[in-house]
Amino acid sequence: GTPRRESAQEVTLEIDGEMVTVTAGTSLMRAAVDAGIKIPKLCATDSLEPFGSCRLCLVEIEGRRGFPASCTTPAENGMKVHTQTPKLQQLRKGVMELYISDHPLDCLTCAASGDCELQEMASVTGLREVRYGQEGANHCQSLKDESNPYFSYDASKCIVCNRCVRACEETQGTFALTISGRGFAARVSAGQDQPFMESECVSCGACVNVCPTASLQEKTVIELGQSEHSAITTCAYCGVGCGFKAE
Ligand code: FES
Repeated sequence: GTPRRESAQEVTLEIDGEMVTVTAGTSLMRAAVDAGIKIPKLCATDSLEPFGSCRLCLVEIEGRRGFPASCTTPAENGMKVHTQTPKLQQLRKGVMELYISDHPLDCLTCAASGDCELQEMASVTGLREVRYGQEGANHCQSLKDESNPYFSYDASKCIVCNRCVRACEETQGTFALTISGRGFAARVSAGQDQPFMESECVSCGACVNVCPTASLQEKTVIELGQSEHSAITTCAYCGVGCGFKAE
């Protein structure tokens, strides 16, 4: 057929053998989505500005060295990108192994289980075992913040993806959150290491919405997720199971 004419604002590239045309400046990750290809990710979301910290979305580009992050690399005309080579799979598995070695292994009782992106990525990358000790797991375990009536923060489940900090800034225009500490001790903190309620947090929930784990968690979800709160439908008025018990 007639070759497609590209406007100055469009670029055409090949991702895993699929030709895709996107607006110049589009990241490789988003171009891949247009081509029907999902690249593993933890720090990127559909709405936030890319950050490039989790290193899970690495790709290979023919003719280039290294493994750039697809979320921060703009698509260019004529690029040939590979997202699923054995080398990439090995690198991603290695990254996930490090994340899991620094995370509590309480999936069975965790409120986010089944809706946890860390869990999903462990599965997507085929991680079956962690060779490292669990010295880092449960780090910051004592750092739980229940001060906000709507959500809680559990630092031990934080993977420091920075999504919440960016959501606070980008969607709410508030600068209530920051990353503090280094290594195993790195975590999100509100204000000058204050409880959330004493910081500039306005309880908008943007941070909770983007958290990939149960680190920032709506309190109602936590309650609903625990079996001891199972519905009691002894009330004669309705079958919702609000917990009302007729004496
Ligand atoms: Fe690209 Fe995290 S999704 S580095």
